[in-house]
Amino acid sequence: MDWGMQNRLSKIIKPKDGRTVMLAVDHGYFMGPTTGLEDLGKMVNPLLPYADTLMLTRGGLRNYISPDVDIPIVLRVSGGTSILSKELLREGMIANMEEAIRLNAAGVAFSIMVGADFERDTLLHFSKLIDDSNRYGVPTIAVTAVGKEMARDARYMSLASRIAAELGANIVKTYFVENFEQVIETCPVPVVIAGGKKQPELDALKMAHDALSAGAIGVDMGRNIFQSEDPVAMIQAVRAVVHENHTPQEAFDKFNELKKQTK
Ligand code: 5RP
Repeated sequence: MDWGMQNRLSKIIKPKDGRTVMLAVDHGYFMGPTTGLEDLGKMVNPLLPYADTLMLTRGGLRNYISPDVDIPIVLRVSGGTSILSKELLREGMIANMEEAIRLNAAGVAFSIMVGADFERDTLLHFSKLIDDSNRYGVPTIAVTAVGKEMARDARYMSLASRIAAELGANIVKTYFVENFEQVIETCPVPVVIAGGKKQPELDALKMAHDALSAGAIGVDMGRNIFQSEDPVAMIQAVRAVVHENHTPQEAFDKFNELKKQTK
């Protein structure tokens, strides 16, 4: 692997333990002013000391994050539809590799829709991005988005994740499901999990812990952090699971302790 690609990957996946806490705040690209991110900068800046990577759009980055901030950026480069669309997630490129490099991104993220009527569109756009990714040494994260009509199970996640890796993804982002080992065993590149809809803090910590136990290398989590009753405490609890091997209960105790301190 080229030096530049390896160097950028090491900014996303921490070489110390091979794990990562990615903070996902790209939701506005299809959901607009998502709850918790109405003022993205106000929410995100206090979380940055505890995140390994920040995933967001170019507009989110330019408008809300100062350029002197010390955080590797994963740039959301797929989009083009909104939650109001009949073809949600029929995504194309919303930023190209030149823009990613201009923004000094450590990586780019693109959603693929395996199994959708328009899967060919997303997979071909994704493959084009992979060519640019290899040309310029910028790693690509494939986000295996799941359509409403598709099963959210290990068989589907395994299929989508393996296709992403076969097409050239450096990292796969997918959803945690039962029998997650099956997804890990059949995916030759590192896997991170998305958080999904907001759950009680202990459940989200348990999900992260179970994913890591099954072989995931970390999380790319959004709502379960920024919609928590205490986002700064929650990201530290997630970090304790990912980097300090805390059990879910230990991490939840840490969350409650930190929450008390900020009251
Ligand atoms: C959408 C995304 C989001 O970044 C992803 O869903 C992570 O956020 P959350 O933890 O809130 O699900 O990639 O396709």
